[in-house]
Amino acid sequence: MSAPVPAKPSDGVCWLTGASSGIGEALIVNLVSNGWRVAISARSEDKLKTLADQYPGKVFAYPVDITDDKAVEATVEAIETDHGPIARAILNAGVYLSINAENPRFEDYAKTFDVNLKGAAACICALTPRMCARRSGQIVIVSSATAFGGMPTATAYGATKAGLLNMSEGLAIELHRYGVHVQCVTPGFVDTPAQDDNDFPKPFMVSAETAANRIARGMTRSRFEITFPRRFTWALKLIYALPRSWHIALVRKQTGWDKPPE
Ligand SMILES: NC(=O)c1ccc[n+]([C@@H]2O[C@H](COP(=O)([O-])OP(=O)(O)OC[C@H]3O[C@@H](n4cnc5c(N)ncnc54)[C@H](OP(=O)(O)O)[C@@H]3O)[C@@H](O)[C@H]2O)c1
Repeated sequence: MSAPVPAKPSDGVCWLTGASSGIGEALIVNLVSNGWRVAISARSEDKLKTLADQYPGKVFAYPVDITDDKAVEATVEAIETDHGPIARAILNAGVYLSINAENPRFEDYAKTFDVNLKGAAACICALTPRMCARRSGQIVIVSSATAFGGMPTATAYGATKAGLLNMSEGLAIELHRYGVHVQCVTPGFVDTPAQDDNDFPKPFMVSAETAANRIARGMTRSRFEITFPRRFTWALKLIYALPRSWHIALVRKQTGWDKPPE
């Protein structure tokens, strides 16, 4: 049994979800310049077609809503029929909905769980039987530094990202013997449309292009976790390594949630 290795463009096509904006959109140019043919997915059909038109014969639009597992399976089938095996899948699609515990909305929890967790599960269910049968492949799951521990107003988002980190670890353990390389991305703040409505401080925020470069480099390596910017994500890891009652008090103070409500 040989250890899983990062996929190469000669192994097949790359499938990228959440490709219509932000980090996903920035990753397209990176993947193409590294020699990949890329099947791009999101719900916004027009946006995907415009992006694909910029790279004729290299980037191909496959619109899909990842919360629809049957549609995801059909999309993966169509990509492999049209372009050959998916050698690398980057599960990047996700939503961030801020939830205030004083006035939470169940539909915000449900949507976050549906897209971020059930959507990723739909992609995994379509991908892993194929990759296991081929004894090769690479799956890169985009989580977040919020996976490391609880954050105020991120009680839905953080729960899904912690779930994705756990899911990635389990898959990395299970798929190793099938030669499938699994990685998890845990970024800090990235300047994308997902951050537009957030008015809280975003220390060490990086551009979508910087994030794409870091992810592209990480995907060529064997290390499980791709995390950046490290001065932020490693500081968070240290805080969350403290006993829980200490880190909860520390994060409460650092984020200003130690003040009484207005
Ligand atoms: N920005 C940050 O600070 C940050 C930090 C850590 C991790 N992340 C993660 O990085 C990933 C990309 O985020 P981003 O910041 O680039 O956000 P973004 O610009 O809002 O992009 C999100 C992408 O997900 C797609 N998407 C949303 N719902 C979908 C659905 N039901 N089916 C298929 N596609 C769907 C969107 O396309 P459509 O709307 O066209 O479907 C879009 O392409 C997410 O997983 C996010 O959680 C972001």
